[in-house]
Amino acid sequence: MSDNHDRGLEVRDVDVRPYVQLATVISKIVSRKDPYTHSHSENVASLAVMIAQKLEFDEFRLVGVRIAALLHDIGKIIVPAEILFKPSCLNDMEWQFIRIHPVTGYDFLSDVDFPWPVAKAVLQHHERIDGSGYPYGLKGDEILLCSKIIAVADVVDAMTSFRPYRPAFPLEVAMDEIRNNRGIKYDCDVADACLAVLRSGAWKKLS
Ligand SMILES: [Fe+2]
Repeated sequence: MSDNHDRGLEVRDVDVRPYVQLATVISKIVSRKDPYTHSHSENVASLAVMIAQKLEFDEFRLVGVRIAALLHDIGKIIVPAEILFKPSCLNDMEWQFIRIHPVTGYDFLSDVDFPWPVAKAVLQHHERIDGSGYPYGLKGDEILLCSKIIAVADVVDAMTSFRPYRPAFPLEVAMDEIRNNRGIKYDCDVADACLAVLRSGAWKKLS
């Protein structure tokens, strides 16, 4: 048996429940700061896992997707509340605070030896395959598949949620966003899997 095989078994023999439990607790703490995004991380996690299931991730990888999705906005803890709740457009300095939250999340999580690339997935969750995302403008295969999944789930939950500066959009509008930007901002396979999940009605969003 090779070293790699041994390491694989060792990792997969780990009880993953404490990872999920701790990620859930942290996501609830973060959501306490922002009443408008209450349940956002749990909604993103549930949709991301359904997308990953469509893409035939095995059970172990699904747990990694769930944890990264639960923690994707942990970096927003450093964004001042008046910026998060601002009911109008952000100025350049305020926007810089928002743009840095994936890096802050990465810095928090990179000290944890997760058996999945959780910190990197969080770092890349606002990247877009055409390079139009942030913080680094990564493109295509430079972005983790897990991050591409979280990105799409994040957009769907955010668009269908009320924000201080706009009402919630109907699910159909969010589906149009994914459909219209399939292969542009969003990975084709991920977009297709997401649309299939949403069409099936299987995703139940918490309010
Ligand atoms: Fe985010």
